[in-house]
Amino acid sequence: MEIERQSFPSPWPRQFFLSELSQPHSTTLVARHPASAGGQIIGYIIFWILIDELHILNLAVHPSYRRRGIARRLLHEAMHRARVRGCHTAWLEVRPSNLAARRLYESCGFRLLMTRKRYYDDTGEDALVLSREL
Ligand SMILES: CC(C)(COP(=O)(O)OP(=O)(O)OC[C@H]1O[C@@H](n2cnc3c(N)ncnc32)[C@H](O)[C@@H]1OP(=O)(O)O)[C@@H](O)C(=O)NCCC(=O)NCCS
Repeated sequence: MEIERQSFPSPWPRQFFLSELSQPHSTTLVARHPASAGGQIIGYIIFWILIDELHILNLAVHPSYRRRGIARRLLHEAMHRARVRGCHTAWLEVRPSNLAARRLYESCGFRLLMTRKRYYDDTGEDALVLSREL
């Protein structure tokens, strides 16, 4: 929750995480700090595998651990698991203003598919829908 609150203008409430953890089609992967007692969580990705599609719902890395390749590793692991499960396409939505995430996704092979107008309630921003073949 601390990472979530530091990462998004409208952070998910705790209940969203608990709900995802209970859904059979949803997977949460976490990155842990190797040297911390108890393995402090420093990043996470949440995704759905729906028949043959991978949907990325949430991805964040603690601000102190960014630009170390953690998000890229989480994304690659999600795509690997989806491929193993027979998925052919990956999808996600990103805010146009989120340049760090857009660079990350672009560097991982995602391309703009379409724009959803005024998708985000909090700022009224459009959503960019990105996708890639797996
Ligand atoms: C976006 C986010 C998940 C990236 O996490 P990260 O672990 O720092 O990303 P990585 O270190 O794996 O970066 C991989 C590549 O993405 C791009 N990138 C990541 N952060 C960037 C930044 N601030 N500016 C420009 N490019 C960036 C770079 O191409 C980078 O490769 P490089 O470091 O070799 O240049 C992180 O900034 C974050 O948690 N942001 C807030 C939450 C968020 O926006 N999530 C995505 C919602 S769609």
